[in-house]
Amino acid sequence: MKIPLHTAAAILNAGGVVAVPTETVYGLAASIKFPKAVRQIFKIKGRPADNPLIVHVANLVQLKTLVKSVPKNITKIKKFWPGPLTVVLIADKKRMPKVIRAGLGTVAIRWPKHKLMQALIKKTGPLAAPSANLSGRPSPTRVRHVEHDLGADFPVLDGGACAHGVESTVIALSDAGWRVLRLGAISEESLAKSLGPAQKAVAVQNKPEAPGQKYRHYAPSTALELCRAQNKIAGFIKSRRFDAVLGFDDTKTNVNVVSLGRRGAFAENLKNLYEKLRLLDQKKYRRVLVDADFKYAGLGKTLAERLKKACVK
Ligand code: TXA
Ligand code: MG
Repeated sequence: MKIPLHTAAAILNAGGVVAVPTETVYGLAASIKFPKAVRQIFKIKGRPADNPLIVHVANLVQLKTLVKSVPKNITKIKKFWPGPLTVVLIADKKRMPKVIRAGLGTVAIRWPKHKLMQALIKKTGPLAAPSANLSGRPSPTRVRHVEHDLGADFPVLDGGACAHGVESTVIALSDAGWRVLRLGAISEESLAKSLGPAQKAVAVQNKPEAPGQKYRHYAPSTALELCRAQNKIAGFIKSRRFDAVLGFDDTKTNVNVVSLGRRGAFAENLKNLYEKLRLLDQKKYRRVLVDADFKYAGLGKTLAERLKKACVK
């Protein structure tokens, strides 16, 4: 159910939960002043308690109240903020409820660019918000996706279709350096232009640094299988009987194609991705082959990672 800005602020300031627009995907928000409301987010999404939430701020002054210290390196990300970049910093544990951090000593912070979200945070203060999908399903990029997952009566602040359509890039940042914890709307290469080369990942085996990375993700109900070479598509379809191909405008096949746009236009492909994954379910396809013949560099790496995760059952 669409609600206006003042109603969204009133619900949040009274300890409620509201779906909110951002330039990446829709979020499911609660004020960090209400740990009870934050717990409600985990319940609504069916989210495991060990997967921490991102806290959204409207300026750097708010950010400083949530962390122990701000690394000097933060000046190097100015170009990306506000925008689809999330930075993991050492939390001020007294100010940052444990439930948001999932017990970690760090907190993930994002300064979103979406004007409506900025106006909302100015009325409420920092907001904890994961993507507004049910856990494991594709993130919502439109109001109707939120209503599909959370019910037609669920309060949503309508900000239109999300500009990026894929989540923010999450990085760890300290004075010692930086590294990507979750691929997203900003490529590692463009971050490296401002921040220098990334540090090597320090993930312990089977324990990714962004806890959410270990869970099944972004998957529709339709069974998906990846094909990395266009010239193998026909053979795959003949031997394995796929109903359709999730591919690009130039994908050649004798079954239906659900297109992510032009091959190699990664920003466009990512913007379409979750909408098209949801479409596969609507069409009730049982088995779909994914044309994944593109270069796994820049935002192509984000696209490849999300497609691979969509295949995992
Ligand atoms: O674009 C986005 O980032 C969207 C919009 C709503 O802002 N939010 C989003 O949140 O994608 P969520 O909860 O779906 O994904 C957050 C990711 C998870 O993989 C989580 O494990 C990781 O960020 N994360 C959160 N806090 C962390 C922390 N302290 N250390 C490492 N990873 C963290
Ligand atoms: Mg999510």
